[in-house]
Amino acid sequence: MKPFSKALVSAIALATAVTAAPLKADPKAEVLHYWTSGGEAKAVKALQEAFAARGGEWVDAPVAGGGGDAQAAVLRARVLAGDPPAAVQIKGPNIQEWAEAGALADLSNVAASQNWDAVLPDAIQNIVKYEGNYVAVPVNVHRVDWIWANPEVLAKVGASVPTTWDEFNATADKLLAAGIIPLAHGGQPWQDATVFETVVLGIGGVDFYRKALVELDMDALGSDTMVKVFDQMRKMRGYVDPDFPGRDWNLATAMVMRGEAAMQIMGDWAKGEFAAAGKMPGKDYICASTPSENGYLLNSDSFAMFNVKGDDLIAGQNLLAELILGTEFQETFNLFKGSIPARTDVSRGAFDDCAIKSMDDMVSAADGGTLLGSMAHEIAQAGAVRGAFIDIATAHFNSDMSSQEAVEKLVKAIKLAQ
Ligand code: GAL
Repeated sequence: MKPFSKALVSAIALATAVTAAPLKADPKAEVLHYWTSGGEAKAVKALQEAFAARGGEWVDAPVAGGGGDAQAAVLRARVLAGDPPAAVQIKGPNIQEWAEAGALADLSNVAASQNWDAVLPDAIQNIVKYEGNYVAVPVNVHRVDWIWANPEVLAKVGASVPTTWDEFNATADKLLAAGIIPLAHGGQPWQDATVFETVVLGIGGVDFYRKALVELDMDALGSDTMVKVFDQMRKMRGYVDPDFPGRDWNLATAMVMRGEAAMQIMGDWAKGEFAAAGKMPGKDYICASTPSENGYLLNSDSFAMFNVKGDDLIAGQNLLAELILGTEFQETFNLFKGSIPARTDVSRGAFDDCAIKSMDDMVSAADGGTLLGSMAHEIAQAGAVRGAFIDIATAHFNSDMSSQEAVEKLVKAIKLAQ
């Protein structure tokens, strides 16, 4: 992992004065997050209300910009200034990096008292523990490799949701011929990378995804299979509308909702938008995993508690950590967010068929060795390596770059980023 700059580490040292858990301070927390869309905002509001109900004073610090890249810059600036927020929405290798730099509070006490080990799957524990101790509290499990489809629009060309990439292309060609936008898409690097990784999974397969995007195997990255991935990405580029550049992901979801486009490839935070608009799965929209051999691209959001001074802030951190992984909140939050609970013991009763499919597919993928971390959403990769993948995927998508050239650039970029 890329080491933090000396300035950042010393700023962390200055800000770090972990005192014993306070006895009677009023809990307070400034919370840095990037959940600002309809479904995301409702989910955050549920946490704010649960925190306030326990006497907590929530100081909201939202940073607009799906995918979180804008927030990451704000976080580094705050830490550099020796003024980190108490709680921050981060995940994957970023948690490990901040923990390695000594920036994160140890949540072992809350974890032990709430028995987190007994209710969190290994895949999640591995994300939120550093050197065996909990340094973040997981909120959910999002799945990335989804197609969100409008059944009425598909019916206009006599199509159903594609189950193979050949079917996807054939359906998209029919939609194009009928003057219908096949793929609603937001032209932002992280969204291009989201589509890219589902194509890697589908065209290359689970083992190829693991070799190329997780293990950074140079032969896989430079292979003919990766050429085929970019060939498919070139087709995908032909299926989006001319106004896609810069579009926010939730506006693309709204296009599917309104029947202006047939499908969107996006993580299931998109389901939070359908839910916020009162749309019903199986009726107003269909959820289907993107074509692959039982793959599951996992993205899990967490809150890390940064080392801060003040009994009220430390009390706020402990209360947030306790609330976030509580069974009641795990249901309320994830119903709004479109994700599934991080805890394995939450009743399925309130969840829809898409969530149940995600729960079942995650278990079978974990059992079958096909559960993979999302690169685009900072589980399999973060920092410069993730940035290299995103740069090449988005450069290819937004130019007439050949597949061969994209592969050559990808190999060079990943080598440089390590
Ligand atoms: C992801 C994040 C999700 C969702 C999405 C769009 O990276 O994990 O919770 O917010 O970005 O902003």
